[in-house]
Amino acid sequence: PADERIADLLSRMTLEEKVGQMMQLDARSGGLEDLIVGKHVGSILHTSPSDLPKAVKLVNERTRLGIPLVIGDDCIHGYSFWPGATIFPSQLGMAVSWDAAKVEAAGRATAEEVSCTGVHWTFSPVLCIARDTRWGRVDETFGEDPVLIGELASAIVRGYQGGAKAGEALPKDAILACAKHFAGYSETQGGRDASEADLSHRKLESWFLPPFERVAREGCGTFMLGYESIDGVPVTFNRWLLTDKLRGAWQYGGMLITDWDNVGRSVWEQKVKPDYAHAAADAVKAGNDLIMTTPQFYDGAIEAVKTGMLDEKLIDEAVARILAVKFRLGLFEDPRLPDAERIKAVIGSDGHQRLNLEIARESVALLRNDGGLPFAAGKAKRIAVVGPLADDAQNQLGDWAGNSGQVNWMPDGQPRGMIATVLDGIRELAGSDCDVTYSRGANVIDLVPDPEGEFYPDGQPRPKIGVSAAVDQALIDEAVASARRSDLIVAVVGDVVQLVGETCSTATLELLGGQNALLDALAAVAKETGKPMVTVLISSKPQILPASIVGDSGVLAKRAGDPATGTGSILWAANPGMQGGRAIAEIILGVTNPSGRLPITFPRHAGQLPVYYNQIRGQHGDRYADLTQDPAFAFGEGLGYTTFAYGEPTIVGGASNADGTFAKTDTVHAEIALANTGDRAGVEVVQAYIGDVVTSYSWTDRELKAFRRVALEPGQSTTVAFDIPVADCTIVDPDANRIVEPGEFELLIGHSSRSEDLKRATFTVA
Ligand code: IFM
Repeated sequence: PADERIADLLSRMTLEEKVGQMMQLDARSGGLEDLIVGKHVGSILHTSPSDLPKAVKLVNERTRLGIPLVIGDDCIHGYSFWPGATIFPSQLGMAVSWDAAKVEAAGRATAEEVSCTGVHWTFSPVLCIARDTRWGRVDETFGEDPVLIGELASAIVRGYQGGAKAGEALPKDAILACAKHFAGYSETQGGRDASEADLSHRKLESWFLPPFERVAREGCGTFMLGYESIDGVPVTFNRWLLTDKLRGAWQYGGMLITDWDNVGRSVWEQKVKPDYAHAAADAVKAGNDLIMTTPQFYDGAIEAVKTGMLDEKLIDEAVARILAVKFRLGLFEDPRLPDAERIKAVIGSDGHQRLNLEIARESVALLRNDGGLPFAAGKAKRIAVVGPLADDAQNQLGDWAGNSGQVNWMPDGQPRGMIATVLDGIRELAGSDCDVTYSRGANVIDLVPDPEGEFYPDGQPRPKIGVSAAVDQALIDEAVASARRSDLIVAVVGDVVQLVGETCSTATLELLGGQNALLDALAAVAKETGKPMVTVLISSKPQILPASIVGDSGVLAKRAGDPATGTGSILWAANPGMQGGRAIAEIILGVTNPSGRLPITFPRHAGQLPVYYNQIRGQHGDRYADLTQDPAFAFGEGLGYTTFAYGEPTIVGGASNADGTFAKTDTVHAEIALANTGDRAGVEVVQAYIGDVVTSYSWTDRELKAFRRVALEPGQSTTVAFDIPVADCTIVDPDANRIVEPGEFELLIGHSSRSEDLKRATFTVA
């Protein structure tokens, strides 16, 4: 049994070997031999295909005990760094599907691809809650809602780990998952990455911890910390979070890894520890197991033990958890070396491309339809595809797709056959009689030397930073001329990877460069000529479209000349993956009926932030004098090409009390009728929210508790049932306890989080 083998190994390891086992170092930092033979490291990350077998050989031939390495990488929406691997929509894109089964399938496919390369572990999924969307890592989240995040994260963990539950052996084609960034990292100040988080225990308990608790129960093998501090304590040293909560209250038995050089940064950057011995000692005491990319941990931890600052017993406990992961992967019996045959058969396979297209179709949200969509392909002699994102594979894929400063395989020599941009997709579908023209129309950014010398997390200076490009009138004129000759205008705009990711938050959400001027000019053509226009936003986060497209800007005091209504139809695809352009073309040309729903709120203006749907009820004055707090598009919104009619929700059972009230241990059984009243088959995402009518402590009006994708043929109707445990109808008290308060509750079921989209029933908890 693993426990006995772990105890045996521990009894034979020197202190140096144990401390080395707790280190994960960057395989690119050079000196593999020194890391593995000299420092006995237990784990490496970002390994190149040629270094990986060398590293395993060094362990087997040159280390005393031959303890296998656990090898990790950021396979965030596919194996980001492996040329030709399947890159799925970003996590945020996948969340638009509200489809746990598809998300699980994407996780499974990714695990199949990654596992045959010799990598054992992905640093995914991200469970952060995206609220201030200026944050650079919104694309890596599943959006803003804890229940949606928990559902989708559990699904992808099942996919990665091949369904293995806590402590169980992982199948050969599975990889370890990593829930990150524990916890509250996204609750930034002003959206700035890794800023001090303003988080009370109550706030953590209310929103940020539940998704993590959910995946801990799902058996997620590892957790990774964030970079932030809570109440002045960097998460790395937060014993309450790492030990009392995670390992104590949740009984989590998996492995915990820091983020990039958290321990070192506490000395050289945050300056909360005087030296590496103190930093190492306090990190271990707080509950960390594996220390990512802090080479100084080695000497620091050894010194801490030798000087009595750190009890070696705590090192043993951490090493035992690391070894348990290696046994879970079966690495002592089989190091899971790269398998050339499987690599050939599995990576980027046709099956994975088909799955990718299916997911991409669901990851696009139709935010507005002015009646111009779907556009029947046969109707058009000419389609003008315009805009900087229309034929830009790199920015369609977004972050963690061969960019991020580490590997740059995309712009040149990209395996274009696997990637369809919107231009590719429209050309494929429009038919040979249709002339599809492309004009860029605008530039997004210019790359200039970074004046403030910001650094990538691996310490490499970021040489260039993107600044908004100037409006190029010649590009706009060319696009306008093309639009005037066309029967359909497709404008594809968005953001670029240089302004996305870790250390890359943005101060605004506006479209950059000449994009607004381009959209204004195209909207004017569409208005003047009556030509149908669709704006496709491909972006890592909700962005603000100009008033010419979106209409009312939400500014309460309107300026003269502000348009009352926008122009055309609007689609949003959050980095829709390699098949994204094809999926978008199918939606525009009516081959696919869109079913995506927003997992995140679209503000009208960055000044509205935060604008998530489940905000705590305020009092009079909780608004701006110059801007509505009504978002541009609300959480849960998204249209299709058919219509659905809801009946009234009914509570059909579950109450155990004779007077019909519910006990706290009961489950509310509810039903609602749903009919497809249009003339196309379609999918409705039925959303069930709970509102606690009167609460002892301030709370929100509604919270999502369950959802279901329901496919109906035209004219078909069904009954959609929900079972909501009363134990889930909680609020959080001032001492951060989750409680169910007796009294009246609302069950709200419908199309989105907006009041006007929800039907209401009530029930009482005794
Ligand atoms: O996994 C990432 C993490 O999300 C941010 N910092 C670097 C890690 C390893 O690349």
